[in-house]
Amino acid sequence: MTQPKLKSSIAILGCGDVGSTLAYTLIMQPICSEVIMVDLKKELLEAQVRDLSDSTYGGRSGVKVRAGTHKDAGQADIVVITAGAKQKHGESRLSLLSRNLHILESIFSSMAPISPHTILLLVANPVDILTYFARKLSGLPESQVLGTGTSLDSARLRGILAEKAEVAPSSIDAYVLGEHGDSQFIVWSSATIGTTPLHLALPGKLTPEFKASISAHTRGAAGAIIAAKGCTSYGIGNIAASICKYILFDSRSVRPISFYQPELGCCLSMPAVVGRKGIIKSMPVLLDETERAELEKCASGLRGVIEGAEKELSADEQLRKALEVDEGV
Ligand SMILES: NC(=O)c1ccc[n+]([C@@H]2O[C@H](COP(=O)([O-])OP(=O)(O)OC[C@H]3O[C@@H](n4cnc5c(N)ncnc54)[C@H](O)[C@@H]3O)[C@@H](O)[C@H]2O)c1
Repeated sequence: MTQPKLKSSIAILGCGDVGSTLAYTLIMQPICSEVIMVDLKKELLEAQVRDLSDSTYGGRSGVKVRAGTHKDAGQADIVVITAGAKQKHGESRLSLLSRNLHILESIFSSMAPISPHTILLLVANPVDILTYFARKLSGLPESQVLGTGTSLDSARLRGILAEKAEVAPSSIDAYVLGEHGDSQFIVWSSATIGTTPLHLALPGKLTPEFKASISAHTRGAAGAIIAAKGCTSYGIGNIAASICKYILFDSRSVRPISFYQPELGCCLSMPAVVGRKGIIKSMPVLLDETERAELEKCASGLRGVIEGAEKELSADEQLRKALEVDEGV
């Protein structure tokens, strides 16, 4: 007889600034019964587990926090990947690709065999490219591999539009789609406040200058925070925790999430219904001509980066095989 499942577990790979903030958010809500922390830096890992466990003893949260191996992580309900290098001030997300792709490869070889029911949530950057390769390296169905994508950029958009319109951020229905990076774009044509189209809610304000300044804000917000404190962690910690909640609670929330787009040949953010099995379905989105062109440009840029990364991975593989032959392995 199969045993009843008693725990819901979330493994966090990488317990630096983002991983530990996510763990704290999961504990405080609480969203699951167990958080498994994994990091190569053993002292940091033990310290984070102790510190996070201390936050559970006050009685508000019964979440158990423990250190685990990559193999343990591979059996969790959700594996969140925050492991990887982060941007320095002025550095682009794409510049992290080579380092973080190699980390991703090593993570999947250490986690194997990964549970066929695990949902993977990519946070490390460049998140759209890593989501694409995680899908290949994990062997999991496409619907089970998601990236936080432009969820954070969309939250920032809600924040700034709410300020301009003097309403609550939760009343803003507007998305940033495409890449979590420089080629992202705002879907102005279908943005609403409540059910009111944006141009009626902000009469006379939607000038090209206004739109350009809001786009610059959502695209560049991370850079200003990183310049001052060396990382961003609270916004992304909250976004990643919310996505974990949509999954474990099968909430079917519609969010801009990065996932594989077969017709575009890459992973990027489009609105999706998120539930217990990951991406339940994509939601069609109405784009005007400009937005469609922006989506195409964004996808073509991401495809170019993927091609370059595929070449790098295959050169690495050839080198590894050649070294094995030399060493007589
Ligand atoms: N998607 C988003 O919106 C978003 C937002 C903020 C940060 N990020 C990204 O998240 C990543 C983490 O940022 P951070 O500030 O927490 O960095 P950090 O340096 O504080 O933490 C990264 C941790 O990963 C660990 N690590 C490295 N290789 C590992 C492996 N193989 N297995 C387990 N752990 C490993 C490191 O030891 C380190 O502790 C970065 O790539 C950053 O760009 C993404």
